[in-house]
Amino acid sequence: LKDDRESMMIVSAFAQKYFTRYVWEENEGRTIGLSYLRERGLQDHIIKKFELGYCPDGKDIFTQAAQKQGYKMEYLEKTGLTIKRDDWVRDRFAGRVMFPIHNVAGRVAAFGGRTLKSDKNIAKYLNSPESEIYHKSRVLYGIFQAKREITKQDKCYLVEGYTDVLAFHQAGIENVVASSGTALTPDQIRLIKRFSPNITIIYDGDDAGIKASLRGIDLVLEEGMNVKVLLLPKGEDPDSFSRSMSSTQLQEYIEENQTDFIRFKTKLLLANTENDPVSKARLISNIVRSISVVPDAITRSLYIKECSNLMDVGEDILYTEIRKMMRQES
Ligand code: CTP
Ligand code: MN
Ligand code: MN
Ligand code: MN
Ligand code: MN
Repeated sequence: LKDDRESMMIVSAFAQKYFTRYVWEENEGRTIGLSYLRERGLQDHIIKKFELGYCPDGKDIFTQAAQKQGYKMEYLEKTGLTIKRDDWVRDRFAGRVMFPIHNVAGRVAAFGGRTLKSDKNIAKYLNSPESEIYHKSRVLYGIFQAKREITKQDKCYLVEGYTDVLAFHQAGIENVVASSGTALTPDQIRLIKRFSPNITIIYDGDDAGIKASLRGIDLVLEEGMNVKVLLLPKGEDPDSFSRSMSSTQLQEYIEENQTDFIRFKTKLLLANTENDPVSKARLISNIVRSISVVPDAITRSLYIKECSNLMDVGEDILYTEIRKMMRQES
């Protein structure tokens, strides 16, 4: 099984090099893949740093090239690079721009492939299937390229997508990883915790992003880590947003607009409720529920103090509430 994993890593490394060579050196790769990336505003040094590539658009051009180089069908299939049935074989990622997903040690474990078509019936991103070397719920896109800076800054930005990570790097912000969608998991948060306990969530400025931020807050707090949130303007994601400003402006915007989770919840939920006592009570209870998942008692007490000030209710009442909730959970 260990040999299996190694063989899968080796074929993935070959695939990454093949796709990268294709995007830079082959006519189809340059005119279709590289043009697409450049039109999105990505600079060559970022395209290279993340080893982006292009998979030729055919039935099994990549698979044939791999086999010709001696790579076995068994591992091409196990990594999901090739899809094989009784009577046909095809490349999973044909015609897509390729985003290799590196594990924390820097080896390619999987790929995300973006379609260039705007057909709504085609999945925008296709990802490698779960395998011995790729567990989607345990991987963060960009962790290898970010880990040193996460340690240095003692902080990690968490975004949704591949291109959000690239856009931040291009703006000089390198302590950033993507959950690859909004389904954040405890394992992903623990992976960040190896480098820093401080996370700022910057999800897309849409309903899905807001909902996922609220869920993310509790997941981060449960791991005993600190969480801030930055809400982007409606319809923006970090990639689109960062394009309308300079690096300095982006960094300043983040610094000035990220809020701790209590303020984030207060602002968000107050905007959706009348300022009557019943709504206020519901909001307080919602915030207290998040505070109750914090493992450390001293940290909890600091959050209670903040909630008390912000909502103008006595700390003693909040403590009573929190004790009730913690009893219910245990
Ligand atoms: N995603 C996915 N499969 C999809 C859609 C999204 O795996 N069909 C993941 C990808 O990792 C994607 C992330 O979720 O980067 C965020 O999705 P979304 O915001 O829809 O895409 P963007 O990253 O903004 O993609 P783009 O800017 O290229 O449109
Ligand atoms: Mn495994
Ligand atoms: Mn999104
Ligand atoms: Mn997005
Ligand atoms: Mn986007």
